[in-house]
Amino acid sequence: MALKFQKNPIFTPIKKTKTGMTKVNLIDNGPLVVVGEHTITHPDGSQEVKPSRASYCRCEKSANMPFCDGAHKG
Ligand code: FES
Repeated sequence: MALKFQKNPIFTPIKKTKTGMTKVNLIDNGPLVVVGEHTITHPDGSQEVKPSRASYCRCEKSANMPFCDGAHKG
């Protein structure tokens, strides 16, 4: 029996910025946006890899910490 490779349909490919570097953008009165692959280390020590982009709350109003849910606008 031959091995068969199948792509995972829900796999999100890693996106790189044009320079290949991870970038951090501070949005005025909004979140910190990280563009590029990065790893989050949570307070309990668990780690989560974000392959492309994530917005992190800076206002502490998000119901989905540490991520921005748009609550800073209200
Ligand atoms: S920065 Fe967007 S909810 Fe806090």
